Amino acid sequence: MASPKIKLNNGVEIPIVGLGTWQSKPEEVITAVEYALKEAGYRHIDCAWAYDNEKEVGEGIRRSGVPRSEIFLTSKLWCTHHNRVEAALDETLANLGTDYLDLYLVHWPIHLNPNGNHPKFPTRPDGSRDVLTDWKIRDTWAQMEAVLAKGKVRAIGVSNFSERILEQDLLPYAKVVPAVDQVELHLYNPQLKLVEYLKSKGIVPQAYSPLGSTNSPLLQDETASALAQKYGLSTADILLGYLVAKDIVTLTKSVNPKRIKSNIEGALAAAKKLTKEDIEKLDGVAASGKQMRLIQPPWGVDLGFDNWPVRVQGRN
Ligand code: A2P
Repeated sequence: MASPKIKLNNGVEIPIVGLGTWQSKPEEVITAVEYALKEAGYRHIDCAWAYDNEKEVGEGIRRSGVPRSEIFLTSKLWCTHHNRVEAALDETLANLGTDYLDLYLVHWPIHLNPNGNHPKFPTRPDGSRDVLTDWKIRDTWAQMEAVLAKGKVRAIGVSNFSERILEQDLLPYAKVVPAVDQVELHLYNPQLKLVEYLKSKGIVPQAYSPLGSTNSPLLQDETASALAQKYGLSTADILLGYLVAKDIVTLTKSVNPKRIKSNIEGALAAAKKLTKEDIEKLDGVAASGKQMRLIQPPWGVDLGFDNWPVRVQGRN
């Protein structure tokens, strides 16, 4: 089933449902991507350098036989690469076996020491993450704007950026407003204020971990399950359709063919069936005591998100 598209702020169209690839093992992601494109109608694949599987995603795309021009392909700049955006992008393009991306995102608003003790997660002697706290995110963004101007990517955006970081550190300096902000969005972390803010700025919200990631507590949620019963759908369908109905680009991860297919079909079916009242009810679930962030790397830096205590690895 083909996913409807929505327009980004530069006119580029993005399919509202995409296949996520975080935590997909390299040997599994080839067939997952191939199947998603060839058999399940996906035309949008979300990847990242840091997922350590870009080469296999590229292989899956090639095996699918679907022309590159029909696929919306996203990848992300890793934290140790903020000082060399174009070189990092070139590595990603080579990994994926393509000469352009549809969307390139700054993965986190954090620059980790590129000369530290680890290529991906450098740490200080006390075990805390080796964040370059003086780095200005605007300097990363200027390089993102440069690769956009060169035509190596069709759109640029951010991920894990809070309203505060966008307002204080990025938008006042940006020539190009980010096309998207990809953040953790799901029934238990709906970030209603952030979503409203992003929409007011013309920034499309993208949901990662829409099902609550691995071993999700969301799949047992009573409100979502009741709606699933009411509409003859699965709870996963309701969780995904809830986001799609709110015009949130939804990146759903699976390496299982049945679930890959049912997720796109179910998301679109549920988005059509859910009423305004259903959405309001679902919007209220987190606030009724279920609020839960599932993805909280211990950066040791205040990223400006609600419900995110700053934890410093090795200290608290
Ligand atoms: P698997 O890849 O084995 O299908 P999220 O999209 O929030 O990141 O969640 C992904 C997690 O949910 C993965 O563990 C994935 O496992 C599992 N998953 C994906 N689709 C479904 C589904 N329809 N029902 C239950 N679990 C699912």
